This record gives sequence, structure tokens and C-alpha cells, in this order.
Amino acid sequence: MIKAVDITHKYNNDLALNRVNLEIKKGEFVSIIGESGSGKSTLLSILSTLLKPSEGDVIFNDTNYKEIENIDTFRQTNIGFIFQFHYLINYLNVKDNLKIANEKVSEEEINTLLEKLDIQELVNKYPSEISGGQRQRVAIARAMMNKPTVIFADEPTGNLDSKNSLKVFELFKKLSNEGTIIIVATHDLKLAALADTIYEVKDGQL
Ligand SMILES: Nc1ncnc2c1ncn2[C@@H]1O[C@H](COP(=O)(O)OP(=O)(O)OP(=O)(O)O)[C@@H](O)[C@H]1O
Ligand SMILES: [Mg+2]
Repeated sequence: MIKAVDITHKYNNDLALNRVNLEIKKGEFVSIIGESGSGKSTLLSILSTLLKPSEGDVIFNDTNYKEIENIDTFRQTNIGFIFQFHYLINYLNVKDNLKIANEKVSEEEINTLLEKLDIQELVNKYPSEISGGQRQRVAIARAMMNKPTVIFADEPTGNLDSKNSLKVFELFKKLSNEGTIIIVATHDLKLAALADTIYEVKDGQL
């Protein structure tokens, strides 16, 4: 469960989020829509511990983010990130890109994950040798390596065609059915509609 309580965020003196409240349950698939500059990325950053809000609290299960001593460890064990640009490492093949996220993971686990994303045949390829949609699926696999409780995705399909975008969202659906919370910001209303819950951010308000 993730709960935002009266989150307000200012960059210098500019109000980006204004008293946002929301509660997201285990396995819930949430999409966040809204115009450019409305505050989607700011909200995702705050919910994912990357940014401290000016005011308000984020509660993860029973823990307030403010009480977490080692935020890096917390993030590594609980949270997966997917961005518009995949940030794979070009000089490492798919398998090694995944191992970077969790070096203790077995070959077998990697293969199972790749099969789930239908990219098992790419395990020894380099990012430059595969398509944009395949790269994004590798990035999703990487986000899943530590079996996070929550996956945050900020415009994950911004660089993909409609067929690959749909694949990514179908995958989110599958993961949420297995109990992972998925929180995705998107401009694409058709894709957003595949989520369990849609929130719109408008001038910093939900
Ligand atoms: N690092 C920053 N410093 C100052 N202002 C910022 C910063 N990041 C965002 N803002 C401002 O905060 C507001 C919300 O920005 P945010 O990036 O959250 O919007 P967004 O909904 O994600 O937009 P987009 O759809 O274009 O990605 C905007 O007015 C933006 O200019
Ligand atoms: Mg954004």
C-alpha cells in the first residue's frame, strides 16, 4: 500500500503539487494522466522516494518515508523504475544489463524473466542490436530483477509505436495481477484506460 497524505511540492517558489492525497492498494495498476507540466513526474518522484515533498507524507505499508534511515536500501528492495529512455548500458549485453540490477540472481531466474517478457532469444544481444520495443522490455525486466513491490514508469512508451506500447501495458497488467503495484504516467489516454484506476493531475491537483 502506498498512501500520499496532503503532498505539496514547490520548486523554489513555484507550486508544482498542491495538497495531493491518494491511496494505492497492493496489486493496483494506476495510470496518471495530465498535460505537460501538470505535475505527473513530480508526483512519481515523490511517491518513489527520489524527491522529498515540501510538505506532506508518503506512507509505504506502515512506514512513513520520513522514518526510513537508509533510503537507498529501501529503494533497492522495494522499487523498480522505468523511464521513457531505457538507460540500458550499451557495452553490456542483455544478460549483463540485467545482472547489474542484481548480481546475485541466477541464470535460471534471468531466463524465466526473459521468457515472461518474450525476449529470451535476446539474452546475448547488445542494446544496439535490438528494437526500441525490445529494449524497453529489457528495461522492464531490469526493473523487475529485485521483485519490487512497486514499479514506477514515467512515459515508458514515449518512444514506442502503438503495437509495442500496448505490449508494455499488457505486461503491466499481468504484473499487477501478480500483486505488483504499477504506477505509470502517460500522455496516451487509450493506454491509460487499461489501468484499474486513472488519476488526472491538473495544475498540481489530483
Ligand atoms: N527540477 C525542477 N526545477 C524547477 N521546476 C521544475 C522542475 N521539475 C519540474 N518543474 C516544474 O514543475 C511543474 C510540474 O512539472 P512535472 O515535470 O512534474 O510535469 P509533468 O506533468 O511530468 O510534465 P510532462 O508531461 O511534460 O513530463 C512544471 O511547471 C515544471 O516546470
Ligand atoms: Mg513528466
